[in-house]
Amino acid sequence: MSTHIGAKPGDIAETVLMPGDPYRARWAARTFLKNPVLVNEVRGMLGYTGLWNGHRVTIQGSGMGMPSLSIYANELIRDYGAQTLIRIGSAGGMQPHVQLRDVVLAMTASTTSTPSRAIFREAQFAPCADFGLLRAAWEAAQGRKAGVHVGPIYSTEVFYDEREDLSAQLSRHGVLCVEMEAAELYTLAARHRRRALAVLTISDHLQTGESLPAEDREQSFGDMVEIALAAAFA
Ligand code: ADE
Repeated sequence: MSTHIGAKPGDIAETVLMPGDPYRARWAARTFLKNPVLVNEVRGMLGYTGLWNGHRVTIQGSGMGMPSLSIYANELIRDYGAQTLIRIGSAGGMQPHVQLRDVVLAMTASTTSTPSRAIFREAQFAPCADFGLLRAAWEAAQGRKAGVHVGPIYSTEVFYDEREDLSAQLSRHGVLCVEMEAAELYTLAARHRRRALAVLTISDHLQTGESLPAEDREQSFGDMVEIALAAAFA
């Protein structure tokens, strides 16, 4: 086991899907994986390993925010040898054409800071997705009912952000949506030469104030999980 993950060596697959919410990890594992086995429950951050179309997959909660994701992604990479890490999560829309239930494939993730920020000194590192995963996810998303967008996103450190002008400037520069984890995931994947992607479902909208009713969430999140799985094994 690692410091925050109780799985035994070999319990974690090379491909890991990472929702922020541990209960969503349980739901996705029970819904999409054959024979899901609970491999981690340290601090309630549930992780399951099972089979999807004959491929081994782990679905491990990351918690909310980059400091939490950094702990789990670091340990998955360094201690368990994860090769492909795909965040599946929710995001707030930042463009009028990005609507509730749409799926966003995050090409880049801008941020004010990540847990890795200090190592770059004055450089502004540009975290980006693995191109092969991004292209495969785009192909897997074609023909689905949900609208799909590919482009830049924003990984914020602050959910209740008082800097209204900041999100306005990011929207003005074409940023599609806001979430709280992808920039650090992409940075860690770059450092360790792993593949990473964030596949996001729009659950609320910064410009319209709308949000997805709880009962609608599962079906919308299902598209995102299927796209992520298809991309991982394309
Ligand atoms: N995740 C989902 N919606 C969000 C928002 N509005 N801001 C940050 N993270 C989010």
